[in-house]
Amino acid sequence: MTRQLILDLDTGIDDALALAYALADERAHLLAVTGTYGNVVVDEGVRNSLALTELLGAPDVPVVAGPGHALARDGFEVAEISAFIHGRNGIGDVDIPDAQRGREEGSAVDFLIDAVKTYGEDLVYVPTGPMTTVACALRRAPEIAEKIGAIVCMGGALTVRGNVTPYSEANISQDPEAAHILFTSGAPVTMIGLDVTLQTLLTKEHTRRWREAGTDRARALADMTDYYIRAYETTAPKLGGCGLHDPLAVAVALDPSLVTTVDVPLAVDCEGVTRGRTIGDPDRLAEAGGRVKVAVGVDKERFVADFNDHIERIVAEGRAV
Ligand code: RIB
Ligand code: CA
Repeated sequence: MTRQLILDLDTGIDDALALAYALADERAHLLAVTGTYGNVVVDEGVRNSLALTELLGAPDVPVVAGPGHALARDGFEVAEISAFIHGRNGIGDVDIPDAQRGREEGSAVDFLIDAVKTYGEDLVYVPTGPMTTVACALRRAPEIAEKIGAIVCMGGALTVRGNVTPYSEANISQDPEAAHILFTSGAPVTMIGLDVTLQTLLTKEHTRRWREAGTDRARALADMTDYYIRAYETTAPKLGGCGLHDPLAVAVALDPSLVTTVDVPLAVDCEGVTRGRTIGDPDRLAEAGGRVKVAVGVDKERFVADFNDHIERIVAEGRAV
């Protein structure tokens, strides 16, 4: 079955890999990439998404910009740690030519609301940066929560520490209020957090194999991923590779059987030292509805092999038709 996908990316390196995975998969019809801030400012992320879709043979996929900062803030600056992990340009300082075309007119918030109206149950939305765009859409049109097919988000940490603070993962930490709106909206949400993404690791042995295709696509994806792996060697030397955060969310959107989940009345702490923590809400524990599926287990061997097959295919042949 073909799934109608929207990817909402803060186009850093693992977002780029998530995009490549989606374009390589025949089960996915990518309706659009929407752009958010986080690893980069929103304009840089949109530029990267346009350049990458063109490089990967998908110049017809629309790219639409969303809000450029968190709900409770007036602006946004890229954190030093984000620039260290993803490079100053978000894609490991790898030089990919600008796209021939520009972004679409209008806002990602309206695009999402309209897409839910058009595709309803068939639409799967995959945010892999801060949840600001979907929170704005839910505020403007709360009825989309019960009309959308699924939302599979990368973010959060339920059973492990955060990666920005001991409590908070990067995407949630950028806009805790937005994530709280999403998790308490009643929409069918699956959370793909650090609990599972830090189990799915890629190494330089994988990127070495991509390079054998000898294409510009192979060089670009391998160079940026090697940059990402080098950053992980500094920030998380015990892991032995880089976490496939955002690609895992896309893979679960296409095949939920990759993860096991628990149903949690999920909330986000928005105050104090635990700001940004994803945690069950004790006041809603007795309620049956309004739960988020939180991934706590992953078939890592199957996913990493499947991910690698997708990337080997797209670097050799370009986008799936
Ligand atoms: O914590 C990992 C997440 O933060 C990923 O989505 C990565 O791209 C960054 O946005
Ligand atoms: Ca991301």
